Amino acid sequence: MKAFVVLSMCPVLFSCNGLLSNALDTITTNQSIRDGKNLLSAGWTFELGFFSAGNPPKRYLGIWYKKITTTTIVWVANRVAPLADASGTLRITSRGSLVLLDGNGSDIWSSNSTILVRNPVAQLLDSGNLVVRDADGSDPNNVLWQSFDYPTDTFLAGMKIGWNRTSGFNRYLTSWKSIDDPSPGNFTYQIDPNGYPQLLLKQGSDIKFRSGPWNGLRWSGTPNLNPNPYYRYEFVLNEEEMYYRYELLNSSVITRKLLMPNGMVQRFTWIDRTHGWTLYLTAPIDQCDNYASCGVYGTCRVDTSPVCRCLKGFVPRFSQEWDILDWSNGCVRRNPLDCEKDIFVKYSWVKLPDTRSSWFNESMNLQECKVVCMKNCSCMAYSNLDIRNGGSGCLLWFSELIDIREYNNYGQDLYIRMAASESALLPSPQKKHKLVMGLAVSFGSVFLILVLIICVRQCKKKKMEIPEGDNCENQKKDLELPLFDLSTVALATSYFSTDNKLGEGGFGPVYKGVLRGGQEIAVKMLSRNSRQGLHEFKNEVLYVSKLQHRNLVKLLGCCIEEENILIYEFMPNGSLDSFLFDPTQREQLDWSACFNIINGIARGLLYLHQDSRLRIIHRDVKASNVLLDYEMNPKLSDFGLAKSFTGNETQANTNRVVGT
Ligand SMILES: *[C@@H]1O[C@H](CO)[C@@H](O)[C@H](O)[C@H]1NC(C)=O
Ligand SMILES: *[C@@H]1O[C@H](CO)[C@@H](O)[C@H](O)[C@H]1NC(C)=O
Ligand SMILES: *[C@@H]1O[C@H](CO)[C@@H](O)[C@H](O)[C@H]1NC(C)=O
Ligand SMILES: *[C@@H]1O[C@H](CO)[C@@H](O)[C@H](O)[C@H]1NC(C)=O
Ligand SMILES: *[C@@H]1O[C@H](CO)[C@@H](O)[C@H](O)[C@H]1NC(C)=O
Ligand SMILES: *[C@@H]1O[C@H](CO)[C@@H](O)[C@H](O)[C@H]1NC(C)=O
Ligand SMILES: *[C@@H]1O[C@H](CO)[C@@H](O)[C@H](O)[C@H]1NC(C)=O
Ligand SMILES: *[C@@H]1O[C@H](CO)[C@@H](O)[C@H](O)[C@H]1NC(C)=O
Repeated sequence: MKAFVVLSMCPVLFSCNGLLSNALDTITTNQSIRDGKNLLSAGWTFELGFFSAGNPPKRYLGIWYKKITTTTIVWVANRVAPLADASGTLRITSRGSLVLLDGNGSDIWSSNSTILVRNPVAQLLDSGNLVVRDADGSDPNNVLWQSFDYPTDTFLAGMKIGWNRTSGFNRYLTSWKSIDDPSPGNFTYQIDPNGYPQLLLKQGSDIKFRSGPWNGLRWSGTPNLNPNPYYRYEFVLNEEEMYYRYELLNSSVITRKLLMPNGMVQRFTWIDRTHGWTLYLTAPIDQCDNYASCGVYGTCRVDTSPVCRCLKGFVPRFSQEWDILDWSNGCVRRNPLDCEKDIFVKYSWVKLPDTRSSWFNESMNLQECKVVCMKNCSCMAYSNLDIRNGGSGCLLWFSELIDIREYNNYGQDLYIRMAASESALLPSPQKKHKLVMGLAVSFGSVFLILVLIICVRQCKKKKMEIPEGDNCENQKKDLELPLFDLSTVALATSYFSTDNKLGEGGFGPVYKGVLRGGQEIAVKMLSRNSRQGLHEFKNEVLYVSKLQHRNLVKLLGCCIEEENILIYEFMPNGSLDSFLFDPTQREQLDWSACFNIINGIARGLLYLHQDSRLRIIHRDVKASNVLLDYEMNPKLSDFGLAKSFTGNETQANTNRVVGT
């Protein structure tokens, strides 16, 4: 019975001429692996042998998964020197060097490791690592050479991507030329050691994607790299080494990270035979991940349209280019710097800019960091290095800031050097002394209340003085829209307190409010300097007030006094983008919820485009303009950019490219 089992397994286990139990994962100087024979790791996880690729097919020596049905190559030895036929042989020399010989006995690939030990052996480990070690040595972990130091396109658990700083040796991924050609392609994924280290995805010498600096938990620009029960990421930076790796926490998990021939970095996890390799992570993930997509001092937000804008306090370098969506030249300061007098303005939720010309100190705190940056006029920004435990360490930038993006509910704080005249960008009561601060606050609020009272008086006075004028009363008649007093709105929103602020739209801030009767409202204040002028405001009022549909946000009223204000029904679940772009929120959206939302958006649009008497094109449909009520029913908002067709026209020329 035993013999039968052994015999029937022979074809699978290839080495029928040898003893099955012996030397399956190891070769000595007296043995070799010919094409057609394989090495198998002790736990049968990985296999080493020859495989074919390309057209016409060539032979390569490689390592692949043994347990997995789809052939998945994780390492290739002779990727630049393929064999033309099946005459290859792998052996290990007495000097400890692995050599691959062709049919004529000339070596076409060599590990070049010359280590003088008595009994060198090559062994394939269950991690997928092919190692050369001394069989006589007392320490089985003493590795003289390993394939993990020469990765191809696959990043396996336990591998290090990065540098030995003593020897200057760098390990990095290089893509295959194509799916079927293991020779080195154009893309590399490597740690850049300049400034504070970051992972760079490059095509030749061009940077395609930058991970951002490591912040203690993950890379600054990889929000999806979350702690999970299967594997743990780690970045190590010390005197001797600088590397990135991950280790498996559950050894039954099969996962690999791959630099694809098309320049995408993807993590795949094996589920089972039917599901195969399942994609878990991808980088770059969107338009904003493309390196420097908004130029210097530009910032990218994937949920706005257009995606690029200048950071607060900056303006486009060439506004004509900027307006036609060419952002490559980025932005410049509105006001020039003046060294000693400069201030630092905080920008939150950002992916930290390129750190290749940065300087860092792991033991300094944020305050010390600021002092150092203040002293050196070429220091452009600072931030914490590590965001854990409230933040620690210091990172300083000594060049123009580039490749910044902003996230919702994710990202880091960055403090940028600005001219003193930009002090309006500082949060209002952030001043030196507590007493001064207290005084400023109390003075500020008194002043605010005074202004409000004056506003309200003014409006009432106006109403009495010019009964036929273009004021509240008149609008009321025009629009048949309930009109709200400024005082009512102010009271409902606790005087437009920041606690009540829901967000900042393209037009100005939006506040939550509660009317005296208990009804919840959303109050949209049209900021004076927003691009949307009075014209657009009236547009919106006009259109929205005439539209009634269950998938459109209902306009409850307006106020056109000192400020232009719109009052909408309140949508407790906020906007769709906050669900889509937040990994935890996203889980709440099961298929039926998604389907309901998709349907609702379509119905709302159909109504606007076709069924409403006015026939309106929304022109800015995006996730942030889809609001959700208590029952997750979607309602379209923001008709500020809307323009209606008149009569039977089905085509309209608008004179500006706008919206999404
Ligand atoms: C290899 O062969 C030589 C000579 O036949 C023998 O002396 C040596 O012990 C062998 N080594 C191993 C590791 O089997
Ligand atoms: C072996 O050498 C001969 C003559 O130099 C050559 O024609 C042949 O292609 C070689 N074979 C291999 C496998 O390199
Ligand atoms: C080994 O050395 C040769 C000659 O210096 C070189 O061509 C080859 O690329 C090296 N092999 C490896 C795996 O580094
Ligand atoms: C780094 O390289 C040096 C010099 O080659 C070597 O002595 C040291 O062991 C290496 N360090 C690591 C962690 O591999
Ligand atoms: C790699 O780069 C070269 C030169 O830049 C280009 O000609 C070639 O098409 C690129 N190959 C791929 C697969 O992108
Ligand atoms: C490891 O993962 C497998 C498959 O997901 C699971 O069944 C098993 O319970 C996990 N083991 C541990 C120790 O978490
Ligand atoms: C980092 O900062 C600490 C505290 O200010 C200082 O003692 C140390 O010398 C600094 N390290 C470097 C490399 O500048
Ligand atoms: C400012 O920092 C830069 C970069 O570290 C350095 O080259 C320069 O000497 C510093 N200037 C002063 C005045 O410290």
